[in-house]
Amino acid sequence: MASSAITSYASLLLLILLPLCSADDRLVPGKPLTPGATIVSDGGSFAFGFFSPSNSTPAKLYLGIWYNNISQLTAVWVANRETPATNGTSSAPALSLTNSSNLVLSDADGRVLWTTNITGASSSPTATGLAAVLLNTGNLVIRYPNGTALWQSFEHPTDTWLPSMKLGTRYKMRAGDRLVSWTSPDDPSPGPFSLRGDQDTFLQSFIWNGTWTGYMVDGQFPVNTSFIYYTIVVNTEEEIYAMYSLTDGAAFVLTYSGEYRLESWRPASRWAVVTKWPATKCSIYGYCGPYGYCDNTVAVPTCKCLDGFEQMNLEDWNSGNFSQGCRRKEALQCGDGFLALPGMKAPDKFVHIMNRTSKECAAECARNCSCVAYAYANLSTSRRPRVTGRGDLIDTKKEGDSIATETLYIRIAGLDAGIKEKANALKIMLPAVLISSLLILVGVFLACYKFKGTNLHNNIL
Ligand SMILES: *[C@@H]1O[C@H](CO)[C@@H](O)[C@H](O)[C@H]1NC(C)=O
Ligand SMILES: *[C@@H]1O[C@H](CO)[C@@H](O)[C@H](O)[C@H]1NC(C)=O
Ligand SMILES: *[C@@H]1O[C@H](CO)[C@@H](O)[C@H](O)[C@H]1NC(C)=O
Ligand SMILES: *[C@@H]1O[C@H](CO)[C@@H](O)[C@H](O)[C@H]1NC(C)=O
Ligand SMILES: *[C@@H]1O[C@H](CO)[C@@H](O)[C@H](O)[C@H]1NC(C)=O
Ligand SMILES: *[C@@H]1O[C@H](CO)[C@@H](O)[C@H](O)[C@H]1NC(C)=O
Ligand SMILES: *[C@@H]1O[C@H](CO)[C@@H](O)[C@H](O)[C@H]1NC(C)=O
Ligand SMILES: *[C@@H]1O[C@H](CO)[C@@H](O)[C@H](O)[C@H]1NC(C)=O
Ligand SMILES: *[C@@H]1O[C@H](CO)[C@@H](O)[C@H](O)[C@H]1NC(C)=O
Ligand SMILES: *[C@@H]1O[C@H](CO)[C@@H](O)[C@H](O)[C@H]1NC(C)=O
Ligand SMILES: *[C@@H]1O[C@H](CO)[C@@H](O)[C@H](O)[C@H]1NC(C)=O
Repeated sequence: MASSAITSYASLLLLILLPLCSADDRLVPGKPLTPGATIVSDGGSFAFGFFSPSNSTPAKLYLGIWYNNISQLTAVWVANRETPATNGTSSAPALSLTNSSNLVLSDADGRVLWTTNITGASSSPTATGLAAVLLNTGNLVIRYPNGTALWQSFEHPTDTWLPSMKLGTRYKMRAGDRLVSWTSPDDPSPGPFSLRGDQDTFLQSFIWNGTWTGYMVDGQFPVNTSFIYYTIVVNTEEEIYAMYSLTDGAAFVLTYSGEYRLESWRPASRWAVVTKWPATKCSIYGYCGPYGYCDNTVAVPTCKCLDGFEQMNLEDWNSGNFSQGCRRKEALQCGDGFLALPGMKAPDKFVHIMNRTSKECAAECARNCSCVAYAYANLSTSRRPRVTGRGDLIDTKKEGDSIATETLYIRIAGLDAGIKEKANALKIMLPAVLISSLLILVGVFLACYKFKGTNLHNNIL
C-alpha cells in the first residue's frame, strides 16, 4: 500500500513537473504569457517576457528579451517598440501563440499591439507541436518539433547585434538588416539612428542620423589583445551577412545617442565600452573630402591628401575644414599606371566585380580609362550555389589583426603603366581610414573579389 502511494505520489509530481520543465523555455498554444511570468532559455542566458524601462505609472510594458544573468536589466530585443501595453490593475496584456501560428500580443481589451504576422502557415500549431522557443543565444524562434523555423527574432533586430546573429543583406530583395536605436534610455520606440550596410554589397557599414549618412563604421578594433573577437562574412548567391562570436555578456549596441558600441558586462557591476564608433572626427562621413584620407596612425588623427593629390582649398584646409578634399596635381592620361597604397580601407561606393584574380582585377581597371582606382579584397566568394548548398566562409578576422585593410591601387598621372610600389608605404592601420566619394567625383572605383572554388572552410564558429 505504502509503495503504491509513493508511486502515485511520484507520478503526480511528474505530472506537475513535466509540463513545467518542458515549457519554461517556450510558449505553447493555449498558454499565454502575462506580465510577471518569464520564459528562460535552456542554459539560463536569456529571459523573455514583459518589462518596463521607465517608472511611469501606469507602467508601460514592453515585450522583450533580456540577459537573464545580469543584474542590470538590459533588453536586447523589443517586440512592441512603438505600442507599449499598460499594466492595468484589473486585467493585463497577454502574448499567445495562436492558431494562425503567430505570436500575438493583445492588451486587456483584446486590441492587437504586436504580431509576428506570418502568413501562409496553415497547419494548426496544436496539431503540429509548434512552439515559440527562446534559445540560449537570445533568439526567439517559432518552430516545429523537427526544427523548421517559421519566424525568429534574430531576423528582426532592434538595437542590438548579438553573437551568432546574422546581419546582412539578401541580394534579390535588396532588403538589408539594420539596427535602429531607441529614442531614449526609457523609450524603446525607434530613434533617429540606424546602422546598416551599403545597399549593394554590405561590405561597409554606416551609422545614419535620420536620412543623413552620419558615420562610417569599420569592422575593426583598436588593438586590445585581452579581448578576443571573431567575425565572419559569408557571401552566397542569395545573401551576404556577417556574424561574430564573443565572450558571453557582450554585444554590439546602437545607443539612443547614436553611438555604436561593443559593450561587455563586467561581473556584478556594469557595462563597459570596449570600443565605439564614431571613434574620432575622422569617422564622420566625408570628413576628409574627396581624395583625402584620414591618417589614424598619428596621435591626433588628421586628414591628408592621397599621393599625387594636393589640397583643393589650402585656406579651408588649414582652418580645419577638409570637406572640399584634394585634387590631382596633374591630369590623368589614359595610359597612366597605378600606385599601390597598402593598408588602406577601401573607399565607399565601388563597382563590385566578383570572380576575378588580382591580375584580372588590375587588367580590368587598367583598360578602362574611367577607372581611377581599384582594390582587391581576398574574399573567397561564390555567387553560384555550390553542390553543398552553402556559401564559402570568407574574411575571418581576429581582433588586433589588420588583415581587413586592403591595398588601394590608385591611378596617378605620369606613372608608367603597371603598378608602382610606394617606397615609403603608408602604414594606415586601425581603426578606419575614410576616403570619401572617390567614385562620385571622378570615374569608377573598382573593387574585385577573388573567386574561390568549392572549398568550404567555415570552421570557426
Ligand atoms: C551567471 O553568472 C555567474 C556569475 O557571473 C556565472 O558564474 C554563471 O556561469 C552565469 N550563468 C549563465 C547561465 O550564464
Ligand atoms: C504588472 O502588474 C502586476 C500586478 O498588478 C504586477 O505583479 C507586475 O509585477 C507588474 N509588471 C510590471 C512589469 O510592472
Ligand atoms: C485552435 O485549434 C484547436 C485545435 O486545432 C481548436 O480546438 C481551437 O478551438 C482553435 N482555437 C481557435 C480560437 O480557433
Ligand atoms: C502583415 O503583413 C502584411 C503583408 O506583409 C501587411 O500588409 C500588414 O500590414 C501586416 N500586418 C501587421 C499587423 O503588421
Ligand atoms: C517540419 O514539420 C512541418 C510541420 O509538420 C512541415 O511542414 C515541414 O515540412 C517539416 N520540415 C522538415 C524539414 O521535415
Ligand atoms: C543628428 O541630427 C540632428 C538633426 O537632424 C542633429 O541635431 C544631431 O546633432 C545629430 N546627431 C549626431 C550624433 O550627429
Ligand atoms: C584592454 O585590455 C586591458 C588588459 O590588458 C584591460 O584592462 C582594458 O580594460 C582593455 N580595454 C578595453 C577598452 O577593453
Ligand atoms: C567647409 O567648407 C565648405 C565649402 O567651402 C562649406 O560649405 C562648409 O560650410 C564649411 N564647413 C564648416 C564646418 O565650416
Ligand atoms: C569565373 O570566371 C571564369 C573565367 O574568368 C569563368 O570561366 C567562370 O565560369 C566564372 N565562374 C563564375 C561562377 O562566374
Ligand atoms: C568602364 O567601367 C564602367 C563601370 O564598370 C563601365 O560602365 C564602362 O562600360 C567601362 N568602360 C569600358 C570601356 O569598358
Ligand atoms: C587569400 O587568403 C587565403 C586564406 O586566408 C590565403 O591563403 C591566400 O594567400 C590569400 N591570397 C592573397 C592573394 O592574398
